[in-house]
Amino acid sequence: MRSAWLLSAGCVLWVCSLTAAIEPISTSIAVGMAAALTGFLAGYQNMFYYFNECCRPEWISYNKTGLKYDLDTKLYGQHVAGQVILKAVTGFMNNKKPKKPLVLSLHGWTGTGKNFVSQLLAENIYVKGMESSFVHLFTATAHFPHEIHIDTYKTQLQDWIRGNVSICPRSMFIFDEMDKMHPGLIDSIKPYLDFYDNLNGVSYREAIFIFLSNAGGENIVQVALDFWKDGKEREEIQLKHLETALSLSVFNNKNSGFWHTSLIDKNLVDFFVPFLPLEYKHIIQCGLAEMIAKGHSPDKEVVEKMAHDLNYFPKEERVFSMQGCKVIPSRLDFYI
Ligand SMILES: Nc1ncnc2c1ncn2[C@@H]1O[C@H](COP(=O)(O)OP(=O)(O)OP(=O)(O)O)[C@@H](O)[C@H]1O
Ligand SMILES: [Mg+2]
Repeated sequence: MRSAWLLSAGCVLWVCSLTAAIEPISTSIAVGMAAALTGFLAGYQNMFYYFNECCRPEWISYNKTGLKYDLDTKLYGQHVAGQVILKAVTGFMNNKKPKKPLVLSLHGWTGTGKNFVSQLLAENIYVKGMESSFVHLFTATAHFPHEIHIDTYKTQLQDWIRGNVSICPRSMFIFDEMDKMHPGLIDSIKPYLDFYDNLNGVSYREAIFIFLSNAGGENIVQVALDFWKDGKEREEIQLKHLETALSLSVFNNKNSGFWHTSLIDKNLVDFFVPFLPLEYKHIIQCGLAEMIAKGHSPDKEVVEKMAHDLNYFPKEERVFSMQGCKVIPSRLDFYI
């Protein structure tokens, strides 16, 4: 990650040193020569921008149509999450002067598409998608595994966020396994999510923070199950049916990192995004998409065989997939 930071800094510094280098050329040398040199340098600079990722519109620009298309065609069974994300992100990206960074909290059962949506988002804002040096993914158990080092983690994380946002205000920070994050660590990033004009000269208002967790997943499942039991269509589920249960459950759940913090208390999270548990038909869709991704022609029979062998709940009715679409890439290989 550090190298990405240095590279981005290099991008800025290179431009600065070039400007400094041409300043002494100020005497009566032919204006034409200066113009030619400037033209040459501008061309060179453009080439630099072209080949090296910079914090500029050539590399960072929001593609609303692309995001809508991806959410509509690639994300299965998540009509609520899709709508909320599109509205939230479009509103934020179109706002020339946001008052605070965008903070999204994605919740739901395993394998329902939380990381996948983050990836779609990154791909429709940054040319390099998740590979962009302006997109930062932290996984609680991988990056902050030892409670004993919490103070070091806090300093490192704050330095990392401050350093990267000062290089590129439109930075994206994704925190995976948020429910496993130490509450102190969540607390340490709180100032960056708030309504400050700037903190020590750095403004965080263009940044995007995305929190992913399974917290509240069971409550979401319960709502989906109730709808199913009442014979209602899944598509009838709206945000309002899930919102209250979700935020309260997250807030009251002792196992959830949110519980200890004032993230919710202080309204720092702009949108709680619920991910519904996936059904058999969505597993089929994921399976077919995965076959294409693996370079095979989609074969419904093969995918159905695989989907049939997965686990579903409730046990009798087999409505929702236990693992969502997460195990499909590995499982599919056994059936092809
Ligand atoms: N709703 C979905 N629509 C399309 N593909 C999906 C969906 N959910 C999951 N997938 C597929 O399954 C893979 C794994 O899903 P993902 O990592 O996004 O799950 P998750 O919600 O983050 O799960 P966990 O809570 O276990 O981290 C994705 O990369 C994607 O290929
Ligand atoms: Mg995940």
